[in-house]
Amino acid sequence: MKIDILTIFPAMCQVPLGESIVKRAREKGLVQIAVHDLRDWTSDKHRSVDDMPYGGGQGMVMKPEPIFAAIRELRGENTRVLFLTPQGHRLDQPAVARLAAAPDAHYILLCGHYEGVDHRVVEALVDEEISIGDYVLSNGATAAVVLVDAMVRLIPGVLGDERSAGDDSFAEGILEAPHYTRPPEFEGMEVPEVLLTGNHARIEEWRRAQARARTRQNRPDLLGEED
Ligand code: ADE
Repeated sequence: MKIDILTIFPAMCQVPLGESIVKRAREKGLVQIAVHDLRDWTSDKHRSVDDMPYGGGQGMVMKPEPIFAAIRELRGENTRVLFLTPQGHRLDQPAVARLAAAPDAHYILLCGHYEGVDHRVVEALVDEEISIGDYVLSNGATAAVVLVDAMVRLIPGVLGDERSAGDDSFAEGILEAPHYTRPPEFEGMEVPEVLLTGNHARIEEWRRAQARARTRQNRPDLLGEED
């Protein structure tokens, strides 16, 4: 998988995408990630990427010219342009899995800022508008990091144990069962006895029941129940 991130805050992406699982995936060659500064495609001496909104109103709007120039240079034949914006479709685990399913995909992640992006960009260049949740971030670079992290860990070979992504919360539409490690007793709180039995059938049954109970408590909407 190849990912190009287009942002006016490259440092906000470089550090988090140079750590942990994403770092190892890059080192193994399972994903190529390049972070680009949109200002490199400006042509004025102030390297400006935004301008006043037509029709008036608060804030600035990102100009089309640098974005068109950057995307035209970066895109190839099978590139999909994903625009991170609070106005997009809300991201969830099935959507992440769909994006991660094509190992030779090429994505350009366009990060918005200011009040928005000139809509001609969305109409002419963007394949999907993606929101990472119903709240507004100060810019899309943070959202791009979230999307890349969620996608990369699903690429086959990235997680050491192929099963571990399958056990994640949401992988089966509900939350995960709780986890415990040593010591068996900590400040008077004990690890549930069933986990110490070595009886895998009972442990599995306990985990399924716990997963449902946690989902009912924290995310009843996932079970089709009222919030
Ligand atoms: N940019 C600002 N807020 C965002 C959000 N919730 N999702 C994606 N991009 C954003």
